[in-house]
Amino acid sequence: MSSAPYTSPHPWTAEPEGPSPLFAVASLLLGVLVVALAFVAVFMWFDAHQARDDAGRAADRATSAAAAHASHATSTSASIGALTSYAGAAPSNAEQLALAHKPFPAQLPALQAGQVASYDLVLKDVTLQIAPGVEYSSWAWAGGAPGPVIHVRQGQTVKITLTNKGAIPHSVDFHSARIAPNVYFKDVNPGESFSYSFKANDPGVYMYHCGTKPVLAHIANGMYGAIVVEPKAGVLPRADRNYVLVASEWYLGSNGLESAAAFNMTKAHARQPDWMTFNGYAGQYVTHPLVAKPGETVRFWVVDAGPSIDTDFHIVGTILNRAWVDGGLNSPPIKNVQTVAVPAGGGGVFDVRIDHPGLYPFVSHAFAAVDQGQVGLLKVGNVEGTMSH
Ligand code: CU
Ligand code: CU
Repeated sequence: MSSAPYTSPHPWTAEPEGPSPLFAVASLLLGVLVVALAFVAVFMWFDAHQARDDAGRAADRATSAAAAHASHATSTSASIGALTSYAGAAPSNAEQLALAHKPFPAQLPALQAGQVASYDLVLKDVTLQIAPGVEYSSWAWAGGAPGPVIHVRQGQTVKITLTNKGAIPHSVDFHSARIAPNVYFKDVNPGESFSYSFKANDPGVYMYHCGTKPVLAHIANGMYGAIVVEPKAGVLPRADRNYVLVASEWYLGSNGLESAAAFNMTKAHARQPDWMTFNGYAGQYVTHPLVAKPGETVRFWVVDAGPSIDTDFHIVGTILNRAWVDGGLNSPPIKNVQTVAVPAGGGGVFDVRIDHPGLYPFVSHAFAAVDQGQVGLLKVGNVEGTMSH
């Protein structure tokens, strides 16, 4: 466009004619002026036209971008709108059901003698109760979710036999092992078994879980558990009680009251759980508290199975005397802390000594988790009743 005046016929083609050289010069100047004005006019028209086109194109772009954005926003908000929360859904007899529920045993089980500790893990599709009256159609273990607590000594060889009684392939990944995942954490087909061993060289509390894709769905369906690798004698101070807690979230496609709920992937991606639990059932240690005597040291071995949300471990009414973060038992503990985050896929070991009798709630202090069921009670001494927090 800027070259237009130079490619057009120029004024110098008009030869002066007529009697007066002055007139000829004046005519020439006038001619130049007219031609120049004409060029300016053409230029302005072209420029304006171009600007209109540009504006039009920009407007088109803006419109289509806005339309795209609007349609994106609409579909996003629609799907978020579809993520109905079933948090707190309960039948009228929820209290009786909670009392009748047999809590997952939180006590750390005994060690196996010898150099090899063998564990049979059976995967099975089972309908679980995850809260009073709330049923969930899981892929979990023969005994529900979490899987059995595995307790071994540092240096022991752990022999795992995985039997898949489910409908689809599954696997088991131990965070306490240093072995090739492609070889040992491989998929096991329905009806088949697979064994492998690893040496438990690293003390602490670790997660184990199914690692078959999509892992999010397999973990969220209940395929996780805890392994405690007891360190060599003298590393840990003596504890009077040992409790294992596996924290996790549940993502439901329905409220689970009339019929068992199925996993909802959209909610899992949005990290919008309906229930959050310790050892697979909302509030089970509120109605069935864990116990200790005043002055005893209670050790909590905590794993956060996730699949996606951390657990901010806290005991109401006291301070954690010692905390081994991420279960790293070879490092000194941090002392006298209020709340310690246990990341999804991580662990922590927490010692607490409570001298005064009472009911001490243990929670994830991310308080939506408490409302959704990640709360229990430590009952110290012979105190009556229960409480919620
Ligand atoms: Cu699985
Ligand atoms: Cu993992």
